[in-house]
Amino acid sequence: MINETFDYVEYLKLKKSIDDRSLNSAVWNELVNRIKSKCQNSGSIFIVEPGAGIGTMITRIMDEVLREKITFKCAYTAIEPEPGFQTAAESYLQAWAEKQNAKFIKLNEQQWQLSKNEMEVTVDWECAAAEDFSQVLALKSVDLLLAHALVDLLPVPELVPDLMQCLKADGIFYFSLNYSGQTEFSPGHQSDSLLMQEYNADMDKRFPDLDWQASHTGNLLPDFLQKQGHTIISEGSSDWELDANGKAFILNILDTIKKALSSSPGIEQWYAERRDQLEHEKLKLKISNRDLLGEV
Ligand SMILES: C[S@@+](CC[C@H](N)C(=O)[O-])C[C@H]1O[C@@H](n2cnc3c(N)ncnc32)[C@H](O)[C@@H]1O
Repeated sequence: MINETFDYVEYLKLKKSIDDRSLNSAVWNELVNRIKSKCQNSGSIFIVEPGAGIGTMITRIMDEVLREKITFKCAYTAIEPEPGFQTAAESYLQAWAEKQNAKFIKLNEQQWQLSKNEMEVTVDWECAAAEDFSQVLALKSVDLLLAHALVDLLPVPELVPDLMQCLKADGIFYFSLNYSGQTEFSPGHQSDSLLMQEYNADMDKRFPDLDWQASHTGNLLPDFLQKQGHTIISEGSSDWELDANGKAFILNILDTIKKALSSSPGIEQWYAERRDQLEHEKLKLKISNRDLLGEV
């Protein structure tokens, strides 16, 4: 369950436009090419996205499909454990449809259809964790497995091989915004180095029994997947680079760090100084992430 000190739905809405700017365009363009050819070859596509949040990746893909005029008939299963996000996703998708002049039909409580021109997307919203969704994952019927800003939260060696089982023999996967270990504030602060090491160490504590460094997921994932027999099609950085325009978002990150390091000496003073710099629009933040696209 998400347990942050701020409104996480609002955070995900803010994050959408920051991610749009950060996503690695070469990896994204290759994903779009693959989606296009899958739709041309088989007439429809089945996408599964664990950790779908409030559905921002669904709208990102629909925007691209409309921009590229792709004939797109899509079954999209979103798997999201946070119970409140289902309603948030319904509103988010409905608002997107209104803005795009697209049609939104509520088929039932957890199934919605969005359509415009040559695009028809049926979204199934499953309130579950990826680990608990084995019936879909066992079907080997998925064309595209997507996970955005999720994989660094997962016990990768334990879960990702299972997730991959859902893919068809010619299926592809796109794992984007995987944290790769660098959180850098500007201007620098004498406590940055120690605190950011502790911040990474806190992430790494998540899975004490696994040989996996969650804070370096973006760097470790390509090699891990290749060793599992998968092929990496494209890979590259998707760093967040935030300045005064991203003030509200930086505040969320500061709060996340403060909460994670609540028992670290010096955190209160560091946080107070960073808040002050943020208020005076003097704080910048860069967080390193990586995206990858691969095939079974
Ligand atoms: C950082 S948020 C990203 C949400 C969304 N992908 C986005 O970028 O807007 C991570 C999401 O993964 C979900 N999540 C966490 N652990 C999960 C798990 N084991 N299976 C599926 N989803 C999970 C959280 O509830 C949250 O919505």
